[in-house]
Amino acid sequence: MSELAAEAVARASTYADDQGLHTLLSRLRATGPLHRIESDDYDPFWLVTRHADILAIEKDAARFINAPRQALLSLKQQAATRALSGGADAGQMMRNVAGMDGDDHRAYRDIAQSYFTPKGLTEVVRGIEALASDFVDRMAQSGGEGDFARIAMSFPLRVIMQMLGVPPADEPMMLRMTQQTLTSEDPDFQAEGGPLAALMEAFGHFAAIVTDRRANPQSDLSTVIANARINGEYLPMPDILGYFFVVATAGHDTTSYAMTGGMLALLENPSEWEKLRADPSLLPNAVEEILRWTTPVKHFCRTATEDCELHGNRIRKGDILMLNYPSANRDEDVFQEPFQFRIDRKPNRHLAFGTGPHVCLGQYLARFELVSFFRELISRTDHIELAGIPRRVEGTFVGGVKHLPIRYHIR
Ligand code: HEM
Repeated sequence: MSELAAEAVARASTYADDQGLHTLLSRLRATGPLHRIESDDYDPFWLVTRHADILAIEKDAARFINAPRQALLSLKQQAATRALSGGADAGQMMRNVAGMDGDDHRAYRDIAQSYFTPKGLTEVVRGIEALASDFVDRMAQSGGEGDFARIAMSFPLRVIMQMLGVPPADEPMMLRMTQQTLTSEDPDFQAEGGPLAALMEAFGHFAAIVTDRRANPQSDLSTVIANARINGEYLPMPDILGYFFVVATAGHDTTSYAMTGGMLALLENPSEWEKLRADPSLLPNAVEEILRWTTPVKHFCRTATEDCELHGNRIRKGDILMLNYPSANRDEDVFQEPFQFRIDRKPNRHLAFGTGPHVCLGQYLARFELVSFFRELISRTDHIELAGIPRRVEGTFVGGVKHLPIRYHIR
């Protein structure tokens, strides 16, 4: 394989080849903590490769902010968004917690925060365990062979849609909307009219939910979002839609890619599968390793609010920094033998959920889902093997294994 140039970190296809990606990232980590990337397709940005720097930047949230962009958008994507929206940038059309800073961010995050703590999730966990068992039943009943990605895509989707109170009939639309917006660079997930068209369609559904939950409050997360008030006022409609969007999208395909990638890692490392079978109490630890290994969110961006210096590089106010999580999670300075998948790795200070004030709101939910599913699967599986070639998402933002043919015998 020929050596990739540094700007390949901003190319969607790079992420479809895990080995090529990590060869590139290892080289970039070794040659410098920060790389200035300039290409014809993107605004120039700084690539941050090392665990310690990502940690420090995320914690320095006044100097490195989330507005006005959470992720890299190519110049082409930016132009397409402006053309379709009559000149507005994506960030102006809807606001969500991941794009806010300071007090604003805290106030918006507080709205749903208590729902997502381990205590807040107590009721939800029982439902998750029941669903994990249903989905493993589906595998058992479906003839001993199939694409594991279909199960992995449906289970976390069902969980978050149950929490939102969205009926099962709307789930295929929600899945399509997530894929067409968060993984819109992948040829399998293109929307007619682009990601913005998919977003507008979803907004129609969310707006109907808001009207309903104000008239008929229930005990679901949709009711919390639709009726949230700050300083006594309902949130502006674009912000409510942004809230629905971030919870409905961030809450499932990320977890799905941890499931598919975790399954692949276990199939490729049968001794780790056997360790888990022999001692299921290792599961929470194994899930941390799965999260490190798969790193479903590939990057978030920060923007500098002032001129500063990082490792001798002059960062200017307004400069964009790409925090590359797969790179941080293979950093040799933090992880011993980072390219070994070891379910009993301890400590495991991975950054799959980020850190600092924006640390993933759904981290405990995602962990519960992964532990519940793999516990059920491993306890009922007599045999499991790879039955074809896995395929990965082309995308710089969220991704992982999107097709995973397997053969199995499940009781
Ligand atoms: C394995 C699954 C998941 C991974 C790898 C993941 C990863 C991430 C990452 C890297 C961030 C950015 C953190 C930062 O900027 O420091 C984030 C933010 C976020 N995640 Fe997750 N996530 C997952 C599952 C979920 C779930 C299940 C939800 C449920 C709703 C969720 C909701 C959110 C929200 C709302 C934010 C924005 C938080 C903020 O900006 O304050 N995520 N996630």
